[in-house]
Amino acid sequence: MASEPAQSIVWSDDFLIGIEELDYEHRRLVEDIDTLHRDLVADVEMNRIEDTLGRIHARMQAHFALEERFMLLHEYPHYPEHKAEHERLLDEYTELMTKFEREQNLDDLEATQDVLSKWIVNHILSSDKKMSLMVKSAKQT
Ligand SMILES: [Fe+2]
Repeated sequence: MASEPAQSIVWSDDFLIGIEELDYEHRRLVEDIDTLHRDLVADVEMNRIEDTLGRIHARMQAHFALEERFMLLHEYPHYPEHKAEHERLLDEYTELMTKFEREQNLDDLEATQDVLSKWIVNHILSSDKKMSLMVKSAKQT
């Protein structure tokens, strides 16, 4: 029997950062990662897995760009570090995705899904929440 894929990421209101358009996109991203988990459990065709991987990539790119515009608009002082974290996440994800497309190794992909879930959760709970709190408190002064 094949081993169970890593735990999925499940949306929780703990992930809300209080900025509606960013919360909406975070939720979509979490759902896409959950779709990848379901694809792995259901043993679907490689084509479908590649579609899901591509969708996650596109969503990450678009979402990070939106968040970066938001930070610039609000003159967020930690913009450079936050943007660098986005770039690192996207680069690492791109590398994992390309490796999967080349080798089609499902065990690696399970590890990827696990790593991806942890990154996203950590990033939302730490960097994005910090950004939201600072932007909101700056607005009040
Ligand atoms: Fe972010």
